[in-house]
Amino acid sequence: MGIVIGTPGTPDAVRLVLLGSGELGREVVLEAKRLGCEVVAVDRYAGAPAMQVADRAIVVDMSDPAALREVLEAERARPCAELLVVPEIEAIATPELERLEADGLRVVPTARAARLTMDREGIRRLAAEELGVPTSPYRFCDSAEELRAAVDALGTPCVVKPVMSSSGKGQSVVREPAGSDAAWAYAQEGGRVGAGRVIAEGFVDFDYEITLLTVRHAGGTSFCAPIGHVQVDGDYRESWQPQPMSAAARERAVQVASVVTEALGGTGIFGVELFVRGDEVLFSEVSPRPHDTGMVTMATQALSEFALHVRAILGLAVPAGEVPLLAPGVLLAAETGDAPRVEGLAAALAVGDDVQVRLFGKPDARPNRRMGVALASGADLDAARARARAAAAALRVS
Ligand SMILES: Nc1ncnc2c1ncn2[C@@H]1O[C@H](COP(=O)(O)OP(=O)(O)OP(=O)(O)O)[C@@H](O)[C@H]1O
Ligand SMILES: [Mg+2]
Repeated sequence: MGIVIGTPGTPDAVRLVLLGSGELGREVVLEAKRLGCEVVAVDRYAGAPAMQVADRAIVVDMSDPAALREVLEAERARPCAELLVVPEIEAIATPELERLEADGLRVVPTARAARLTMDREGIRRLAAEELGVPTSPYRFCDSAEELRAAVDALGTPCVVKPVMSSSGKGQSVVREPAGSDAAWAYAQEGGRVGAGRVIAEGFVDFDYEITLLTVRHAGGTSFCAPIGHVQVDGDYRESWQPQPMSAAARERAVQVASVVTEALGGTGIFGVELFVRGDEVLFSEVSPRPHDTGMVTMATQALSEFALHVRAILGLAVPAGEVPLLAPGVLLAAETGDAPRVEGLAAALAVGDDVQVRLFGKPDARPNRRMGVALASGADLDAARARARAAAAALRVS
């Protein structure tokens, strides 16, 4: 009973094929290697963070269905005891992944979850219309005219986003009706697949937003303490755990996360993004994989979100999330350049005994690209936040 871990590179190996090889994937690889798995890291460029720590690396455009199939068929043809496909990014040819899954390939948590969550329309309609989970009011629009009508109906301010986009790309806030056409044009430039459909959402005047890490595993569903975060220009700059919440809001958050992750199915970790206003909780979106704001769990939980994900996908049980106080900061690249060099590591670590730094080893830097994170923990959340910020500030990318 239970999973048997064979030697990597032999027919007994448990092989993970990671689709996307960024900093989150890198931590997944490290955790999988700790448990003796064989890992193949895939991304569209060589030298990606997860490739540097994997058994093998494959460079391919995963949004190209034929190329994706070729890679996965080749992996399937290599003998191993268990093959698990682990999507780490959204930009994957998910319909092709669903066809491969129908042919017997195992996808984490499921290919359908990957498809539904890469498209804001898929996940929003599932959550709001099928599951009846509260969300911001919204409309989908296919033209500048439709968006004008939607802005009229929703009122301002409202938020306009391409349906296929992440990290805030193509996303803007319409503050008055006259701004509608500019938001349409901006969204057309920022979408992952070029021009197309947008979602207009009523602006939620939340008190705070959280990521509720939810793990579906062999023993049931577990929740980590809520993670608070600050977003700037569509990317998170800082996250902390736990985010203080009222008991009622916390209960609602767990309910919403349960319903949504249950509908997506499979096993693994989910990052459920929620807006909280008083005791009211609105669902925003969900990642069927580790979440970037959850990197804080590397400092705050004995089992990080990455360790939890790997345990869950190997069919192992996971304890309920039990977390001490913590706080991280984020290091941002200052300049563009190849083969960046990071200075200041000694100074950053000297900020406190609890301070940790993770450098991702990305082969190129560009303004606002995340090159690493600083983490701090401790009983006093504000003091830990200050230490994490100071440690991040001590690091310089050139
Ligand atoms: N309807 C809304 N009302 C208020 N703020 C919003 C709304 N939608 C998004 N935001 C803000 O913008 C941020 C990014 O939005 P969202 O998560 O939908 O985009 P994203 O591109 O998927 O970002 P990421 O990939 O970083 O999660 C949210 O975390 C929130 O701070
Ligand atoms: Mg988001």
